[in-house]
Amino acid sequence: MVKNAYIHIPFCKSKCNYCSFVSFCNLGLKNDYLNALKKQIKAEYQGESLNTIYFGGGTPSLLSIDEFRELLDLFNLNKDVEITFEANPDDANLEYSKNLMQLGVNRLSLGVQTFDDKILQIIGRRHNAVQTLFALHCAAEAGFDNINIDLIHGLPTQSLADFVSDLQKVEELGIHHVSLYGLKIEDGCYFYKNLPSCLPDLDLQADMYLKAVEVLKDKGFEHYEISNFSLPGFNSKHNLNYWNNNTYYGFGCSASGYSYVVGQVCPTYETAVRYTNEINLKKYIQNPLNKFSKQHLSEQEILEEAIFLGFRKIAGINVEEINKKFDIDFDEKYSKILEQYSEFFIKTQTGWALTTKGILISNEILAQFIAD
Ligand SMILES: C[S@@+](CC[C@H](N)C(=O)[O-])C[C@H]1O[C@@H](n2cnc3c(N)ncnc32)[C@H](O)[C@@H]1O
Ligand code: SF4
Repeated sequence: MVKNAYIHIPFCKSKCNYCSFVSFCNLGLKNDYLNALKKQIKAEYQGESLNTIYFGGGTPSLLSIDEFRELLDLFNLNKDVEITFEANPDDANLEYSKNLMQLGVNRLSLGVQTFDDKILQIIGRRHNAVQTLFALHCAAEAGFDNINIDLIHGLPTQSLADFVSDLQKVEELGIHHVSLYGLKIEDGCYFYKNLPSCLPDLDLQADMYLKAVEVLKDKGFEHYEISNFSLPGFNSKHNLNYWNNNTYYGFGCSASGYSYVVGQVCPTYETAVRYTNEINLKKYIQNPLNKFSKQHLSEQEILEEAIFLGFRKIAGINVEEINKKFDIDFDEKYSKILEQYSEFFIKTQTGWALTTKGILISNEILAQFIAD
């Protein structure tokens, strides 16, 4: 049974200079898209009572309240379901926030990126810091008591002091959760072909990350995943489901899902399937059931994913669980990696975790488990 769903709303009013996510500025296609999205949901959703549902983008706050209600109405929800809704600060208004709240949204995620207006302009955001403060005010006024902000570090011209000033705001503004991303400039975004000058180098990016760990911990935040920090009790249940390598639906253009083949009461590992929906908007609208990719995973691949995702959690992996599930001796199977990178691993009560320094080179370390 799949108990979690991600729904992608792939529209933005304009494209931020750093963003390579699948999102389009062709808002004229929104209606057709929503019809296709509903078609996919009706065809693939099996009616399970969901534990979490996440509306991500693109920009979900471009949906009217009626459009959002029509999507939400397609699902059965557990009584303590976590419903996350991503919003852009420039879309905020009190009435919209109240309506979201009334429909059951209980976790709001705001794409803040930074509170520095000069940097916001350089990276092509549509909002400024005053609009962010207004969005946070509307959310609190509407009754939201679980608010995430996305921050990016390593932005053009950003100094360590600028970044620390962003971190200081987190406490002042009553935020419960921070998702922190290092700036990545990938093919497809404006910056890829127009690299900004004054980009912090990798050492400064790493210093910023370490500073965030220190400052947010001081402010009572738990660092529970490589890029995520929360006040006690405010972990993202939806994202934890990913990192625990459990199944989830992916609805919408370019959304990914993970499931076991239908009909298996007790799934065997050979029947796990990862899929990504059609990534071309027009093709998705034409045939929302089409998959861009569909991969049947072997037991070895599932093990690698469990390790890869498990080490993203600061608590690390539970060795006993992995040994039992995959019938292996983890410490023996991966002894070479544990030895070679010993200074970057710590032994926990249940298994292994990465140290903070290990996190800084986590891509290199985790690749070893895949190559093994
Ligand atoms: C896909 S976006 C959707 C959120 C929303 N559209 C917004 O931007 O306000 C989710 C988050 O990913 C992060 N992100 C997007 N592109 C990034 C990049 N190139 N490097 C680092 N973080 C990025 C941003 O923090 C953004 O808020
Ligand atoms: S960062 Fe968010 S708002 Fe900006 S283009 Fe990407 S999805 Fe759209």
